[in-house]
Amino acid sequence: MHKGRGGTLVKFGVIGYGYWGPNVVRNLDQLEGCTVIAVCDRNSTARQRVHQNYSHVKVLSQTADLISSTEIDAIAIVTPVESHYELAKAALQNGKHVFVEKPFTSDSNQAEELINLAAAKNLKIMVDHTFLFTGAVNTIRQLLDDGTLGKMYYYDSTRVNLGLVQDDVNVIWDLASHDLSIIDYLVKEAPEAVSATGQAHLNGFEDMAFITVYFPSKIIAHINVNWLSPVKVRTTVIGGDKKMLVWNDLEAVKKIKVYDSGVEITSGEGPCSLPVNYRSGTIWSPQVEQTEALKQALACFIDCVSNDRTPFSNGAAGLRVVKLLEAAHRSMQARGAPVYL
Ligand SMILES: NC(=O)c1ccc[n+]([C@@H]2O[C@H](COP(=O)([O-])OP(=O)(O)OC[C@H]3O[C@@H](n4cnc5c(N)ncnc54)[C@H](O)[C@@H]3O)[C@@H](O)[C@H]2O)c1
Repeated sequence: MHKGRGGTLVKFGVIGYGYWGPNVVRNLDQLEGCTVIAVCDRNSTARQRVHQNYSHVKVLSQTADLISSTEIDAIAIVTPVESHYELAKAALQNGKHVFVEKPFTSDSNQAEELINLAAAKNLKIMVDHTFLFTGAVNTIRQLLDDGTLGKMYYYDSTRVNLGLVQDDVNVIWDLASHDLSIIDYLVKEAPEAVSATGQAHLNGFEDMAFITVYFPSKIIAHINVNWLSPVKVRTTVIGGDKKMLVWNDLEAVKKIKVYDSGVEITSGEGPCSLPVNYRSGTIWSPQVEQTEALKQALACFIDCVSNDRTPFSNGAAGLRVVKLLEAAHRSMQARGAPVYL
């Protein structure tokens, strides 16, 4: 299949064709500027599915065959996190750029090693923090950057549903990695401490957790993640001193509502006046770009590989998220004791 406008195509190999891998392959197959040479999965049913959908793509069972292929420039790693480090290391050692799923690695030492290896070999690493490529997160960032929300007070996210219970990581590593990457993108200061509580009811991995991230400027972020909720909720409230917003990611159209609401402490002068003013004004809904986020993320990676640019969701961004995940994990084991970063 020929795609693109005449420039050099980035030739991809994809490892992992389970739940998320098909989305990566579908987008790569549709995007200009790249082509999928091969997909590898150790599961024969997965390989069969690739073959049925993409007859022009090589289907492999051994990652070594894909990683050593001289036809391939970049490898997308879409396997569970425990395998990310080994696969990414082998890919970089074989001169391939790496697009790796979130979370980047199972621990921060692995992430640091991969970042150094990529730098030494002048190769790109991009971590698929997909939400950073959604229209919603970009609109929120704009509302913060242009001062509409004013000084940020808090980020409060509820990300709960029934399942998909994982058998290799807890709910923090699975779901909270999304919020931590969003917080890392929106809040322009380094967090100072993390506190987390959670409980494992099913298979030894925490299936629900409450995480708090503290920042020096008094911004506070709270994340509620839960695989045992009867209903699906994807709602984030962000408060600023000028405006507040509610982002309901399950809404098809008006995902973000901005509220002209606020609280001001006044002098409280006069016999009846309270020293607090509440403002509750208009509500409006900004237009949010609807393009599939994964498509935007992959297009960003292809552009960075083709034009020698650094993706903003690079290895360093992935490492910052892994450090927050590690801190949340340690705090949870200590029943919420703060872990300083
Ligand atoms: N960005 C997002 O929004 C998003 C959404 C879902 C999953 N993910 C991430 O994608 C990754 C994969 O998740 P999933 O839900 O698709 O997992 P999955 O278990 O459904 O699929 C993984 C596939 O990889 C294959 N595999 C595993 N190790 C392999 C190896 N060493 N060599 C070859 N094949 C191997 C398995 O056979 C399986 O088919 C995880 O890191 C997850 O966090 C990201």
